[in-house]
Amino acid sequence: MKHLALFLSVALLAACAKPQPQAFHVIPMPADVTLSDGAFPVKGVAVAVDPALDDRSQKAVGRFVQALETATGVKTRRGEDGIRFCFNPAMAAEQYTISVNADGVVVEASALNGFVYACETLKQMLPPAIYGDRKAKADWVLPYVQIQDQPRFAYRGMHLDPVRHFWSIEETKRYLDVMTAYKLNRFHWHLTDDQGWRIEIKAYPKLTEVSAWRNGTVIKKDWGSNDGIRYGGYYTQEELREVVEYAAERGIIVIPEVDLPGHMVAALAAYPELGCTGGPYEVWTRWGVAKDILCAGNDAIFPFLEGVLSEVMDIFPSEYIHIGGDECFNGDAEPDRPDPWDVCPKCAARMRTLGIRKGPQAKHLLQNYVTDRVQRFINAHGRKIIGWDEVLEGNLTEGATVMSWRGIAGGVAAARKGFDAIMTPYSHLYFDFYQSDEQELEPFAIGGYQPLEHVYGYEPFEGIEPGTEDHILGVQANLWTEYIATPEHLEYMLLPRLCALSEVQWCAADKKDYARFDASLDHTFRLLDAMGVNYSLDCRGLMGLERLPSAKQE
Ligand code: ACM
Ligand code: ZN
Repeated sequence: MKHLALFLSVALLAACAKPQPQAFHVIPMPADVTLSDGAFPVKGVAVAVDPALDDRSQKAVGRFVQALETATGVKTRRGEDGIRFCFNPAMAAEQYTISVNADGVVVEASALNGFVYACETLKQMLPPAIYGDRKAKADWVLPYVQIQDQPRFAYRGMHLDPVRHFWSIEETKRYLDVMTAYKLNRFHWHLTDDQGWRIEIKAYPKLTEVSAWRNGTVIKKDWGSNDGIRYGGYYTQEELREVVEYAAERGIIVIPEVDLPGHMVAALAAYPELGCTGGPYEVWTRWGVAKDILCAGNDAIFPFLEGVLSEVMDIFPSEYIHIGGDECFNGDAEPDRPDPWDVCPKCAARMRTLGIRKGPQAKHLLQNYVTDRVQRFINAHGRKIIGWDEVLEGNLTEGATVMSWRGIAGGVAAARKGFDAIMTPYSHLYFDFYQSDEQELEPFAIGGYQPLEHVYGYEPFEGIEPGTEDHILGVQANLWTEYIATPEHLEYMLLPRLCALSEVQWCAADKKDYARFDASLDHTFRLLDAMGVNYSLDCRGLMGLERLPSAKQE
């Protein structure tokens, strides 16, 4: 009898227990959040979508509704008494508001990005299972809250290197899904390099027949070694367009990079006449930087580059095309061999024609000539160039944007000279660096040390001269993949550092708070678990390597 009474009171309590909202753990933290007591149930909720929303916004809302139905296991219904998505033309494109109270949920935005970000914020306020692909038992309620949100920076990028290791279209879409969850809006796709060419170019078929494949890969850091396994791949134009559209539906612009005139040995392997020596060249099988680059004295490189870039601009509608420009004179093999541009008669003739005198600036000025010609071509097609910060050396033509990677100096100088800049310093934002100080227990990495708190602490305006801040368009982290061969490892390097990056990009400096961010990480990990995405627990000193099967391989 006593047992029965206990059972009945527990059952009664359970029946009466109100569903509890999640603690507020949204990353990146929205600009203004006012929470109040109470929660609005969303299982089987009514959804109303303003017909003024454009097609992509409707589709974004549709994906949110689908996720809600999948996770709760209950269909939504049409009606005005639940979640309403409203078009508000007075808002900026990336701005949104959310209001949750006893009357329901009202979301307002003016454009796709605002609606995408509102949906992600709603999802992060719900149980993490909302990011999964199956029904889950949970308290499906939203907290009463007023949110007004917009980003600090317009350019919020993440880079990926599919050259050193190749990532399938499905893996690339997962990468974009993670970016979407944390409100990033630029995907910098580094599609060409010494070790491979990854874009199908119909006018130059040898770029995929020859340049996309290398005869083996260096083993760990023994740069004299080669595993002898043919490696490579490329994306067809149809696949590239599919990624562009997938990203666009999530408010992400894909910025393709064709790295020039350096990091071009893969292309030279197919078209050796474009190099200073005429070759033969091989698609590089080791890491580092090849000495051979496009011959600046050979007029044939321009129709080649223009042919390639025409197809690239046709596939990628982005305002910016990244033309690389890094490390043209950093070739690290063959230390006794001079840079080709120092000994090439064609390059010497070009320098004479341009009036470039011998000296430490000569090669930079010759690179400026190549950059300028390519820039003019791209500008003539209504687009703009981004270059790595080496393009600033010598005389950069007006209208270029500089990507500051060798620390912040490139960004500081660019802004001072009136160029726009994107901050991606390797001091804070190279995610191929280790994230734990127990490096012997970590999967093999290129080196360096960038734990989560260090990434989080990056302040993009630090060092920028007062009055030039408007030239800093935004912030990006880079993920080079020399030592990253599996999707699990890629995601491990990406996360949760990308979450820290998102607050650097999104939050006003005075809204950042590492303690608050750190307290949200457990929720973030459950969210990533639901997405089926790998991450590092070790980023803040907890050992999580068992998550990564490849961790112990090297
Ligand atoms: C770079 O890391 N070479 C841009
Ligand atoms: Zn040359």
